Amino acid sequence: MRIAVVGSGYVGLVAGACFAELGHDVILVDNDERKLAALQQGSVPIHERFLPELLERHRGSRLVFSSDLRKAAEQSAAIFIAVGTPPTEQGEADLSYVESVAREIAGAIRSYKVVVEKSTVPVYTNTWVRKVLLLNGAPGDRFDVASNPEFLREGTAVTDFLYPDRIVLGADTERCAHLLRELYQPLTDGSYYRRKNAIPEPDNATTPPPVIVTSAKSAELIKHASNAFLAMKISFINAVATVCENVGADVRQVCEGIGSDSRIGRRFLRPGLGYGGSCFPKDLLAFRAVARDAGYDFHLLDEVMRINEDQRQRFLRKVRNALWTLKGKRLAVLGVAFKGGTDDIRESPAVCVVEALLRDGSQVAVYDPAAMERAREVLGDKVTYAANPYEAVAGADAVLVLTDWEEFAGLDLDRIRALLRYPIVIDGRNLYDPEIMAGRGFFYYCVGRPEAAPRTEPSTRPVRSETPE
Ligand code: UDX
Ligand code: UDX
Repeated sequence: MRIAVVGSGYVGLVAGACFAELGHDVILVDNDERKLAALQQGSVPIHERFLPELLERHRGSRLVFSSDLRKAAEQSAAIFIAVGTPPTEQGEADLSYVESVAREIAGAIRSYKVVVEKSTVPVYTNTWVRKVLLLNGAPGDRFDVASNPEFLREGTAVTDFLYPDRIVLGADTERCAHLLRELYQPLTDGSYYRRKNAIPEPDNATTPPPVIVTSAKSAELIKHASNAFLAMKISFINAVATVCENVGADVRQVCEGIGSDSRIGRRFLRPGLGYGGSCFPKDLLAFRAVARDAGYDFHLLDEVMRINEDQRQRFLRKVRNALWTLKGKRLAVLGVAFKGGTDDIRESPAVCVVEALLRDGSQVAVYDPAAMERAREVLGDKVTYAANPYEAVAGADAVLVLTDWEEFAGLDLDRIRALLRYPIVIDGRNLYDPEIMAGRGFFYYCVGRPEAAPRTEPSTRPVRSETPE
């Protein structure tokens, strides 16, 4: 099938590349000419596993790039809208990009087409998109507006697309549902998974994935409610972690105990610095606004957001408790991305923590395996940038772990300890075992678990021979 995907950001680019992988002819449309030129020349603008392989496989053949939205829409049976939906000052989703895309494609609708919302949008957006298309001259019997929400996580977006837990098709007519089913058929009939060069199956995949056909409105709600529920799970465990800290319990054990109840599940129960990223913070605000507009005050979401914000403040208090004063302290920060496996720093809790440390007068050296360039755009010359974790740590008064990169979990702890001025690790992501850290001579602070102090070293002596100046 020939399809257009409008918006080649995280969502659109991955969806476009994956649809090409399923055998469709995809036109990826964006109004950012520089981005398009870079994509055409073979660069991969985001750090996303398997995306370089897919772009390499399909670029120039089943996947082409264009800034001509109208022409792309004319040539396509389905047009996916994946442009940004940033929050307004009031927390509502700004749908002006979605509206302008709808306006522009209206004139391209002559034969039957399906216009599909891929961006996360409030309920009723499909109704508005339909109105805008009609107002701008699209014949009402030649199109349907559908909602096909994505549940892609950054870092695993390609496998999330190709091996989804479910495919949600929000279609209000049988014709529209049929077309959308056809698009995903290589996944739902399992033929994609039998291909020799298929992207490898991740752990815990259900193949073929189930398809859930709903009304467009229900699909819009499924997306917001899913993200809100996941964020609630994270805030819940963060609140439990605080109680654990207060009573001296271990949140890992508590998670094991509650997560093994199949009704609860183990996933998304990792306490830490709270959730960030381009989706959860924005979608919670938008969902609250949607509920309010619909006459319901969703106070639970306020509390989810409050706990999330509080989690960063609690971490900062932990840093202050561990180091006393922060002015002039040299701190190594490992991780700037909002989570491991991505170079995205949008709404990253790590960036907020770094900014707070700078306000307190600390000198910060940062290292992130993928997000250094983006970190520079935001933090500029307020921090120094290390070439690797060990360089960041050298001579620092303490190391702060702010992103759950796998690479950090495997660091050479003895080397870190030797490089640090004081053996202090403040871990906002619970990457290490307190027992092991204590055995390696660290003061170790984490989330929801008791602090650990060195078993082998006298408590306050610097690891290296030099004394603090
Ligand atoms: C976006 C939304 O923010 C999210 O809610 C939704 O679920 C998916 O789309 P993301 O892909 O991360 O997420 O956004 P972003 O990286 O900002 O990409 C949007 C792209 O659309 C950009 O490349 C931008 O240049 C392009 N765009 C934007 C257009 O082509 N036309 C427009 O009118 C506006
Ligand atoms: C999320 C949704 O998972 C995805 O379905 C949707 O399409 C887009 O939004 P993403 O933002 O890429 O995906 O990341 P996710 O893995 O969900 O993590 C979001 C945030 O929650 C990160 O900051 C992460 O560090 C944090 N998190 C996640 C926790 O603090 N604890 C957890 O147990 C899980």
